[in-house]
Amino acid sequence: MLNINGKRLRQSLEIMAEIGATPGGGVQRLSLTDEDKAAREQIISWMREVELDVKVDEMGNIFGIRNGRNNDLSPVMTGSHCDTQPKGGRFDGILGVIGGLEVLRILHENNIETQRPVILAVWTNEEGFRFSPAMVSSGVWAGKLELEWAYRRTDLTGAKLGDELERIGYKGDMPAVSRPIYAHYELHIEQGPILEKENKTIGVPKGVLCLHWYDVYIEGEANQVGPTPMAGRHDALCAASEMILKVNELPSKMGGNMVATVGEIHNMPNSRNIIPDKVHFTVDIRSWDDVFALKAWENLRGSFINIADARGCQLKTEISWRVEHALFNQELARKILEKAGKRNYSSLYMVSGAGHDASYINQVAPTSMIFVPSIGGRSHVEVEDTKWEDCEAGANVLLDCIIDSSMEI
Ligand code: GLV
Ligand code: MN
Ligand code: MN
Repeated sequence: MLNINGKRLRQSLEIMAEIGATPGGGVQRLSLTDEDKAAREQIISWMREVELDVKVDEMGNIFGIRNGRNNDLSPVMTGSHCDTQPKGGRFDGILGVIGGLEVLRILHENNIETQRPVILAVWTNEEGFRFSPAMVSSGVWAGKLELEWAYRRTDLTGAKLGDELERIGYKGDMPAVSRPIYAHYELHIEQGPILEKENKTIGVPKGVLCLHWYDVYIEGEANQVGPTPMAGRHDALCAASEMILKVNELPSKMGGNMVATVGEIHNMPNSRNIIPDKVHFTVDIRSWDDVFALKAWENLRGSFINIADARGCQLKTEISWRVEHALFNQELARKILEKAGKRNYSSLYMVSGAGHDASYINQVAPTSMIFVPSIGGRSHVEVEDTKWEDCEAGANVLLDCIIDSSMEI
């Protein structure tokens, strides 16, 4: 049985962790920044070391392709993303890229000839922090989002995704269009507490929750805080505060399996002695039950309208992005569980609360994921951590699955 090189996996992850390293021990490598470019360049140079044919598509997605015996057969694909959240962690995304690279290194150094081609993919802007929405480039690739719409996504400074792709030299020529894929596996940290709590090494998600993103804009009336009496104010921030609490209370009020979060807020003019007149905040709703999540939004919108009315504020809401819940390919999930068992790794069939490019890829190709435990269930934070031996275990299972699938004809 072949094994990945755990020491080299760790060293490569440590090199990646230096690109955008934060003082708190995390990584800040926002999509299409110079740090993202540096990460891409490092990954591509490693891809070339193992003689992958490197291609970049119009969304900046990178594909390192290794030929099989029969290149007319649809390829097996793996990969993840190299962008991070602000003050993000050292494992989210990049583990799946470097884990996949390590698999290809093993195939290369052992002269393994697979029947099918094997592709290592790096997806652009998975996080959706700098440019909303998340998973935008796998969404375009899967034909679920429009290319020109994606190019127009704008960051807080007004920079456009399409222009930033060009600026860092990653607006490729290849159409960002899916091709037939035989099987796709994404290795990732769990980003939640379940595997650690259950004392399991490998998680196999049945699928990913639906992800619904909304933008809420409130307009009130600005005024001098001193002379303006409390009665009759139209304070947009007070209206937003009430609405935010409604978001937080909703999952327990509706009694279902759902999470709802306000993570981003912009208060204007954001001066301690001006009553705020404009607030923009985001809402993120996730559930396995898409209809339930839609009902939750209708419920919230109703209470937002009442709050805005009571405070004499204008309200505008936007449906920014919705991805339905993903039910992954059950045959691939069974294969992952079987491969984990053969290596005596404990495993758990579970659900992913975090979003992944695999959700979109699943809409056009048989897809599954391999999870490894997140220490303390912490992720999207600088202290995000996973034991090196668990990273190695996940990459070994990925190796077994890729060898198996790529030998099938
Ligand atoms: C993706 O990182 C998510 O928000 O789950
Ligand atoms: Mn991720
Ligand atoms: Mn993430």
